[in-house]
Amino acid sequence: MLTDVLRKVILGKKEKFLFTHYQEGTIDFNEINGEIGLYIHIPFCKTLCPYCPYNKIVYKADTAQKYQQALIQELALYKDKMNHRTISSIYIGGGTPTLLVSELKEIIQYIKEYYYFNGDIGIEVYPTEVNRELLEALKKMGVNLISLGVQTFNDEKLRFLGRHYTQKDINAAISLVKAFDFKCLDVDMMSNIPGQTIEDIKYDVKTVFSYDIDQLSIYPLIVFPLTDMASVIKQRGLSRFGEIEEKRILAIIDEIAGEYGYKRTSIWTYGKGDDNRYTSVTRESFVGLGAGASSHFGNYFYLNTFDVEAYINVLHNESLPINIVNVMTEKEKMIFWLFWRCYDGVIDANRFQQLFNKNMKKEFKLLFTALKLMGLSKKEGAKIVLTDWGRFAYHFIEKQYSIHYLNTVWQKSMEQPWIKELRI
Ligand SMILES: C[S@@+](CC[C@H](N)C(=O)[O-])C[C@H]1O[C@@H](n2cnc3c(N)ncnc32)[C@H](O)[C@@H]1O
Ligand code: SF4
Repeated sequence: MLTDVLRKVILGKKEKFLFTHYQEGTIDFNEINGEIGLYIHIPFCKTLCPYCPYNKIVYKADTAQKYQQALIQELALYKDKMNHRTISSIYIGGGTPTLLVSELKEIIQYIKEYYYFNGDIGIEVYPTEVNRELLEALKKMGVNLISLGVQTFNDEKLRFLGRHYTQKDINAAISLVKAFDFKCLDVDMMSNIPGQTIEDIKYDVKTVFSYDIDQLSIYPLIVFPLTDMASVIKQRGLSRFGEIEEKRILAIIDEIAGEYGYKRTSIWTYGKGDDNRYTSVTRESFVGLGAGASSHFGNYFYLNTFDVEAYINVLHNESLPINIVNVMTEKEKMIFWLFWRCYDGVIDANRFQQLFNKNMKKEFKLLFTALKLMGLSKKEGAKIVLTDWGRFAYHFIEKQYSIHYLNTVWQKSMEQPWIKELRI
């Protein structure tokens, strides 16, 4: 409902986004041009956290083996389609990708051998996965960006989140990763966990900065209706901070970051410089491999099947595992681009002109007038920068987008391996 209103009033788009079932020929892979980011999804975890909306199943060694073969097959199918394109980054997410570390070694080897690759390799790491052997293997593979999923330092809250470690384990994990001196150590945290106090949040943020990490990514917990956490909160009547307090929390995090010499580098990341950001989804063009991965280039946004078995089977038959495709109109492409630039906190009108050959402020007149009048953005040369209120508004919109839009697309994709059509 709210997404309908936002889409119509601000973006001037009346029709819903339409996803249709993929058929050979729906996508023109020649539209992959320039540099492209590669995302590899590993949908296995030892245990499943009740708040997690991502595509994952409980790890089984034999399925993981078959999954690796399927990933290699997917890479082989894309090889010709990506002829001569440079892969500028590889991000491996999940799930818990390190459960497949030896399988990943072969996958990276394959990419290096058969693709033009020049860039960083990032991976998500669950704290209890960290040990010398793993870090040595990652270094050898060429991984240089680590994203450690800490979430909170509070043992009771960790138990509530279904995370099987304590502050002591986190301490050991961060210290060991730091000793290996990767190019970037990012730590993922969450705020607004049910029952958390402002003091708890301050403690978490101060503690994480005291480790002298390269980057902090901190998001308020989003309660996706598809997750068990949604019913737990309802059943137990648990309370969380409201929107206004969330704004206050953002200001508190900014203040503590400043005290420790960090500055905000996007809507929810903090770093010491601008150069070593760990970010998997904000590239202009990316191809996603694996069950549930999404891709975007040219006019296309599409999703692979989420079903691990269906993914393995379809690749066994040497077909791409693409499920649904949104052939984007020019307006949708612009909206998609603007959404992710807002995530960066800076929208460059010159880049927009370069990409779409249109004047950004004229094209989205109502949006930019509204942002300015409401004090959500300010002009800095050819760039539009979100103010603190703008950042808060983005958090709010991102939450609505997640709860209403992503939740529906992901839930449907988890229910059915293959979808005929989806309008949202
Ligand atoms: C793809 S996830 C999982 C990475 C890794 N498996 C782990 O759990 O540490 C990456 C990050 O998204 C964040 N995240 C996951 N679920 C979330 C939710 N419901 N709301 C807000 N952030 C979430 C967490 O901070 C997490 O570390
Ligand atoms: S939060 Fe991470 S470890 Fe937990 S189920 Fe999701 S992907 Fe797995």
